[in-house]
This record gives sequence, C-alpha cells and structure tokens, in this order.
Amino acid sequence: MKLFGDLTIENNRLIIGGCDAKELADQYGTPLYVFDVARAEATARSYEEILKEEYPDHTVCFASKAFCCKGVYKMLAKLGLGADVVSGGELYTALAGGMPPERIYFHGNNKTEAEIKYAIESGVECFVVDSELEAELISKHAKKPQNVLVRVNPGVEAHTHRFIQTTTPDSKFGFSVADGTAEEFIHGLIGRKNIAFKGIACHIGSQIFEREAFEIAIDKMTELVIRLNSVGIDVERLDLGGGFGIRYVDGDAPLAPQEYMRNSARTLKAAVKEKGIKPPRLIVEPGRSIVGEAGITLYTVGAIKTIKNIKTYAAVDGGMFDNPRVSLYDAQYTAVVADRAEAERDSEYSIAGKCCESGDILLSDVKLPRLKSGDVLAVLSTGAYHYSMASNYNRNAVPPVVAVKDGKSDYLVKPQSYADMARNDCMPSLLEDGKK
Ligand code: LLP
Repeated sequence: MKLFGDLTIENNRLIIGGCDAKELADQYGTPLYVFDVARAEATARSYEEILKEEYPDHTVCFASKAFCCKGVYKMLAKLGLGADVVSGGELYTALAGGMPPERIYFHGNNKTEAEIKYAIESGVECFVVDSELEAELISKHAKKPQNVLVRVNPGVEAHTHRFIQTTTPDSKFGFSVADGTAEEFIHGLIGRKNIAFKGIACHIGSQIFEREAFEIAIDKMTELVIRLNSVGIDVERLDLGGGFGIRYVDGDAPLAPQEYMRNSARTLKAAVKEKGIKPPRLIVEPGRSIVGEAGITLYTVGAIKTIKNIKTYAAVDGGMFDNPRVSLYDAQYTAVVADRAEAERDSEYSIAGKCCESGDILLSDVKLPRLKSGDVLAVLSTGAYHYSMASNYNRNAVPPVVAVKDGKSDYLVKPQSYADMARNDCMPSLLEDGKK
C-alpha cells in the first residue's frame, strides 16, 4: 500500500526510505524527525529537468526556511540547485553545507547591517532588496556593483491560510505594484553606486493549490517588466518565489509538484512571447514542495486519558516545540501507528503534546487504531517548516533528524543534550548576594 510521498506499508508496518519506522524509533529514540533523502532528491532533480527542457535560463533556489541544515545544502548543491536565505544564520549554514555563494539569493524584509556586510563578503549572487534602507546599506558596503532584485508585491491573493499569505495588499513584504511604489523605487535604484539592478521578485504565498494564482502573478510581473522596459530599464531576471502546495491530509488535492513547475515555466514562456519582452532568467524558490512530504515525525505514545463523555487524549513525547504549525496555523496532519499501519481505525483520539499549554494539541479528534502507551505514532508530511521552526520551549530538546535512503539511516542533525540547551546560560556574579 502507498501512502503520501514515497511512504509504503509492508506487513502492516510503515516504511520510509527502505527503513522500518518502528525500528528507527527503537534505534534513535523519539521524538525523531526522519527525512527521506531519495524522495527530496527526486523532486529537486525533476524541477531541474523540467526547467532544462522548458526554460533553460533558470535557477532553482531552495527556500532554506523550509528546512535548514548543512546536509540539505550538500544534497541540493550537487543536483545543481541554489538557495534562498533570509538570515546570516541560514547563509552561514548554506556555505558550511557547500552551497556555492554564486547560487545564493539573500531575501528578507529587514536584513541587518551585519548580515548585509557578511553576505557581501561571502560573495552572494544577489540580494532581493525589500527597503530603501537596505539599498543604502548595500551601496555603502559593496566594493563593486552588487546584483540586486527588488521584491515587489503584485497583489495576488492566493488561497491559503491567511497567516502564511505574504502578498495581500497589506503586507510587510515588497513594494506595491498597484500604487506605483515599486516602479518609483526601481527608478531610484538605477545608477546608484554599486547597485546592479537585475530584476524583480515576488512570492505570492505558501501551500497554494491553484495554479491560476501563479499564472496571475506571472501576468502581473510581466506587465511590470513591460512598464520598466518602456522607460529603458532592462529586466534580466524574474523571481517567482515558491508556494507549491503539498498533501497533509486526505482531503488535500495538490497537483504533482512537477505540474506546478511545468505550468509556471510554460506560462512565462507564453507571456514573454505574447508581450514581446526579452526572456528573463527565471528564478524559482520552492521549499515545502521539495522537503515537505519527504519528512515524518515519530513519537512514542505516553499517557492516555479519557475525559468521560468528552474525548480521549493520547499524549506523545513531542508537541509544539517540534511542530508549532498546529498552534500557529491550525494545521492538520495524518497519523499512522508505525507497526500497525493498516489496523482498523476504530477509536477516536486527540493527540496531545507534552508542553504546558492547553493548546498544545497535534491532532484533534482523529480516528486511529486503539492506542496503548509505548506505541510509535508517525505524523506525516513534516519535512518542511518543522525542524526549522522548532524551539526549546519548556526546555524540551529539538529532536534529531535522521536521513534515510535505500534502507540505511544516519544523523542529519544530532540529538541535543540538556547541556547543549543550557550551554549559553550564564551565572554572573551580580546574581550573588551582597555583590554588584
Ligand atoms: N520564497 C520566499 C520569498 C518566501 O517567502 C517563501 C516562503 C518561499 C520562497 C518558499 O515557499 P514554499 O515553497 O515553501 O511554500 N511557516 C509557514 C510557511 C511560511 C512561508 C514563508 N515564505 C508554514 O509552516 O506553513
């Protein structure tokens, strides 16, 4: 039987990357993030192949925010992908993971002066400028013309959770196209010291299912290209951001990620032809669609508590510290008992996390086989925005990440110890009685 992604069930047991999920839990402990390398590689490779065919002048920049650790960059750099980073920390990790700086795009709505200096010194390919202050700082610190794109807000409203929309008319990201601010800002950049204007960037939201949203964005972005060209401004690159949706629960019906990519490339090709503009280099920044379905999280069921006539809570050894998406976005998930994957789902549970918050519930009122303490529960599609958004809340350790491929497993991120968590804590003498 086939589940999401490349997960399979053999003899009632959940298999990921050729490894038995229950055995991984026994070997590495829980909570545990498991990452199916071949699955992520296949998606990344297919994006490159599609664009080589449909739109050869392109760069696929993986959106680091979805899953940032050295190994991921190692995996993607060798496939020819680049990276979108949004902080000094992501940039550092990308470089340490072997991502060539000439494939790195630096995004973010408020890069600090220190981050801008660090990125220039590292030789990043391009900044995606999102404020006047940033343009001034790049101009100040660059020693030679620095490539920049300008983040614009084309005003496309994609159907997704409102908290993860980044381009409604009221947005902290980008310069508005509708009110002319974007054009005004770009005009002001031309000829500025050490600023090499290369093009425009947008990102219309995340976890988007409707490919029409991307088509509308392409239309609005190419219209802007025409207006810029009309005043003699060349647009060499067009960055369309990320946003392709994935499957979390049965009701989710995204297209295959390859379909979104192919459709966007073809739509751009057609728009360029129809509007008679010079074909820009296409930059895309998929994050979730590369790593999301490649990840699962394994938990061990602990306390099971029935509230009479209300519900039964099964608590696991993880929670909002490894998955804050439920509390932030009401995100929904699918859970599978690792060694009884096909058992009849004849009981109803809410799966509680272990944090001291009533809202720390990972799944609400879901049907599962009858659970017992010690069961290993797998939550699916957790490869994107889980490890990268994890915290040490309640001083719970961020779970390690184990990579699996062809039946083999190894750490991608090691476990955090209690001492690791307390490592930067200080005991200054001013805390002592009678001393300043
Ligand atoms: N490029 C830019 C400029 C972005 O802001 C984002 C995501 C991406 C690319 C990648 O989008 P993707 O392909 O992953 O959809 N924490 C939220 C998602 C926030 C996404 C923010 N920007 C979540 O857990 O759903």
